[in-house]
Amino acid sequence: MIRVENLKKTYYLGVVEVPALRGITFEVKRGDFLGLMGPSGSGKSTLLHLLGLIDDPTSGTIHIGGVDMLNLDDDERTDYRLNKMGYIFQEYALVPELTVIENVALTAMARGISDAESRRASMDILSTIGLSARLNHLPRELSGGEQQRVAIARSMVNRPLILFADEPCANLDTDNSKIVLDQFHTINEELGQTIVMVSHEEWHKEYFHRIVYLKDGRIDREEQHS
Ligand SMILES: Nc1ncnc2c1ncn2[C@@H]1O[C@H](COP(=O)(O)OP(=O)(O)OP(=O)(O)O)[C@@H](O)[C@H]1O
Ligand SMILES: [Mg+2]
Repeated sequence: MIRVENLKKTYYLGVVEVPALRGITFEVKRGDFLGLMGPSGSGKSTLLHLLGLIDDPTSGTIHIGGVDMLNLDDDERTDYRLNKMGYIFQEYALVPELTVIENVALTAMARGISDAESRRASMDILSTIGLSARLNHLPRELSGGEQQRVAIARSMVNRPLILFADEPCANLDTDNSKIVLDQFHTINEELGQTIVMVSHEEWHKEYFHRIVYLKDGRIDREEQHS
């Protein structure tokens, strides 16, 4: 579903070149739960941002479902970002004044879907994720794990083709991390959601189907789990 060919990214800090990715080639299959691992600074977040169309590579190609992502015009690109991709980051970035269901429904409404339908879709995904009893709570009335699960629900409400998560458990203790990873497992298994997740926690490995290890902006090795 995702095919990446010789992807390179160089950042320029004044006259200094920082080669963050030095030629990445790999594939992600539909329904995969892929882990991106490797030392700090190896290029994990950079790669995720390129795959998620948040940033542009210096060279190389990205095809998603056979479509050349780097040749999309602005409208098509926005459509992909808004309607076909889901993002979860380290910080949950929920709107503090809005309740759980409102936070999730906002993303659905951004697609021009009616209020009622947005709420219905939000309720569905929040119940899949075990938060039916928290619909009218404000973010500050939730635990860290619950807040991150709201962020998962928000990223899932538009049923994205691919879910991108950059260290979604970085701010969580082990118990809450497990709860969040179990939710990823559930949406991967039950909804067939394709997930690409960055992590540097050894114990997260058991959740991934496949792990791509980055080192100095290159693929160091891959590991296949059953
Ligand atoms: N906006 C930027 N400008 C310049 N250099 C950058 C920028 N973003 C990242 N880099 C550099 O690119 C390299 C890869 O960074 P990246 O954030 O992708 O690493 P990472 O594997 O996600 O690390 P971490 O595990 O610490 O999050 C690093 O050397 C980093 O300093
Ligand atoms: Mg990172």
